[in-house]
Amino acid sequence: SWTMPNYIEEAVQKIREQVGAEEVILGLSGGVDSSVAAALIHRAIGNQLTCVFVDHGLLRLNEAEHVMQTFAANLGVKVIHVDASAEFLHHLQGISDPEQKRKIIGREFVEVFQREAKKLPQAKWLAQGTIYPDVIESAGSKTKKAHTIKSHHNVGGLPESLHLKLLEPLRELFKDEVRELGVALGLPPEMVYRHPFPGPGLGVRILGEVRREHADLLRRADHIFIEELRNTKDTDGKSWYDKTSQAFAVFLPVKSVGVMGDGRTYEYVVALRAVVTSDFMTAHWAELPYELLGRVSNRIINEVRGINRVVYDVSGKPPATIEWE
Ligand code: XMP
Repeated sequence: SWTMPNYIEEAVQKIREQVGAEEVILGLSGGVDSSVAAALIHRAIGNQLTCVFVDHGLLRLNEAEHVMQTFAANLGVKVIHVDASAEFLHHLQGISDPEQKRKIIGREFVEVFQREAKKLPQAKWLAQGTIYPDVIESAGSKTKKAHTIKSHHNVGGLPESLHLKLLEPLRELFKDEVRELGVALGLPPEMVYRHPFPGPGLGVRILGEVRREHADLLRRADHIFIEELRNTKDTDGKSWYDKTSQAFAVFLPVKSVGVMGDGRTYEYVVALRAVVTSDFMTAHWAELPYELLGRVSNRIINEVRGINRVVYDVSGKPPATIEWE
C-alpha cells in the first residue's frame, strides 16, 4: 500500500538514477515548492546539490535568515546566499508602473541567477519545484492564448541558455501532497503551510516607486500583522493565519495627518489585506474579528514610526485583485 516513507524512498532512487554523479543547482525562494524540492533532492544526493537563494531586498522580515537557518544550519544543505538588494533597488529607481516593476524584477532575477550559475560550471542539472498544477497550466497556455491580467514572475522559468537538464521531482504532485512530503522530510510545518508569496515580493506591495525606506517600514508592519494572525485563534481553535488563504500589508505612498502626544504627525498609510479563497481566481475578504484588527492597528502605529494610519481592505476578487498591483 502507499505510504509516505515508501514514496520518499522511490523518489530518492529515481533522482539518484537520473542524476548519477553529476551536480545540480536549484533556485531556492523560501516558498513551499522550491523548499520541498530542495529537501527531497538533498535527501537523495546530499552535497551534489547547491541551492542559490537570491535576496532581492523585497522579502519579508528576517526571511533570508530563516531560509539560511532552515536549510544551511539545520538540514546541512549547501546554500549560496546572494544579497542582490542594492542591484534590484537600483534598477527599480524611478519606476512606478506595476507591470514594468514586475518585468524588471523578473529580468534581474534571471540575471543574478545566471551569474551565480556560471560560478558552478560543474552543474549539469537545474532543479525546479514545478508541481502538477503548473504542468497543466503551462500545457493549457500553449493552446489557448492566456489572457494575462498581470504578468506573473516566479523563480521557475529560468532561461534555456543555461544549457542545463531539468530536474523536476514534484511534477506529479498536488500542493497538499507537496506539503505532506515537506513535513515528512523534516521541514518546519510553519514553512510548509505558509501562505503564497509573489515572486516580485514587496515590489508589488509598495505602490508606486519602490524605495528601501518604504520596504523597511512595510516589512515591520507586515510582520506584526502576520504575528497577530498566527497568535490569535478563532473559537474553533484554528489560528486566523490558518483560516485565511493569504494575508499581508500594503504600503501606500500617501501621507495623512494624525496626532501623537501634543504633536501633529504627517505620515504614511498601511493597508491590511486578508482573503479566503480556494483557487486564488476569486476571493472573499476575510471577516477578521474587530478586536484582532484593532490590536494590529495599534501595534503598527505604536511600533512602526513613519506609519500613523492603518486601513482594512474590504474588496472581493473580482473586481479587485488580491494584490494591489
Ligand atoms: P492577484 O493579485 O492577481 O493574485 O489576484 C493572485 C495570486 O497570485 C499571486 N501573484 C503573483 N505571484 N508573481 C507571483 O509569483 C506575480 O507577479 C504575482 N502577482 C500575483 C498573488 O500573491 C495571489 O496569490
